[in-house]
Amino acid sequence: MPTGKPAKNAPAPTTAKVFPLLPPTGPLRLSGKVAVITGASRGIGYAVAKALAIEGCDVVISGREPANLTRAAAQLRKEVHSSAKILAVPCDVRAAQRVAGMFAVVKKRFGKIDVLVNNAGISQAPTSIEQTTHEMWRDMLDTNLTGMYLCTRAALPLMARGSTIINNLSAAAKQIFPNFAAYTSAKMGAYGFTLSIRNELIPRGIRVTALMPGATSTDIWQTVMPNADRDVMIDVNQVAQAVLYAVLLPREANLSELLLTPTVGAL
Ligand SMILES: NC(=O)c1ccc[n+]([C@@H]2O[C@H](COP(=O)([O-])OP(=O)(O)OC[C@H]3O[C@@H](n4cnc5c(N)ncnc54)[C@H](OP(=O)(O)O)[C@@H]3O)[C@@H](O)[C@H]2O)c1
Repeated sequence: MPTGKPAKNAPAPTTAKVFPLLPPTGPLRLSGKVAVITGASRGIGYAVAKALAIEGCDVVISGREPANLTRAAAQLRKEVHSSAKILAVPCDVRAAQRVAGMFAVVKKRFGKIDVLVNNAGISQAPTSIEQTTHEMWRDMLDTNLTGMYLCTRAALPLMARGSTIINNLSAAAKQIFPNFAAYTSAKMGAYGFTLSIRNELIPRGIRVTALMPGATSTDIWQTVMPNADRDVMIDVNQVAQAVLYAVLLPREANLSELLLTPTVGAL
């Protein structure tokens, strides 16, 4: 029969300690931070820029086509109701000089980078290896792999302990799709680059995330498979929320790999 007194051998009562994984929900969890997002004139890059800017993060968006970039910056200013600064800097990630120029602008304007999102990328139509031209091969590797290296190299001098690099790879960094040799080689190479720099940057306290989305509804599918079913694909904003989660984690936690695939599986 309960007496109201604690049992003789019962453990002493403890005060439960709660360790929240993320800062409390609030409108400006990234206020004072600066992010550079490549390939942000549309698609996943644009959605990531929006998600970060909504949290008060200043964002530098880039892409090759200046007119598209200007339009994207205007759209962001309309959609984001925070005090975040939005700066559009045209840059082709394949060109070392252009990349150096973009990060010089970032240094002058903001003096630091808290988040680098290496997102700029292209894909291909299914193509046999015999039909894969040298030009197509080179373009794929220059954009999806060398561009990531050039941007990371230029950004690192501006990145301090606690900052984050998100490399947008693809589910194709893990899974093989036939007739995609150029894309697969570039993305698997970028995965190797990601693993290598994550290890190298541990002493500097810089986190590196391998983002691996599956089919996400963007313009890129016009090249890959124009008739693919858009209804079963992931929405760009879902990928952006996953990136936001990785960035918001406390600095001692690195979301190393983020494989986000459509529930129906590969298309
Ligand atoms: N959508 C998917 O299903 C999916 C799945 C897995 C991974 N991904 C990856 O996600 C990233 C973004 O793709 P997305 O689907 O959002 O494609 P998207 O809608 O076609 O957007 C691609 C972005 O990259 C820019 N870009 C392309 N080449 C560039 C270059 N040489 N220099 C600078 N910017 C460049 C484009 O702007 P400009 O054309 O003006 O340069 C655009 O802003 C890519 O790396 C892609 O491989 C996509």
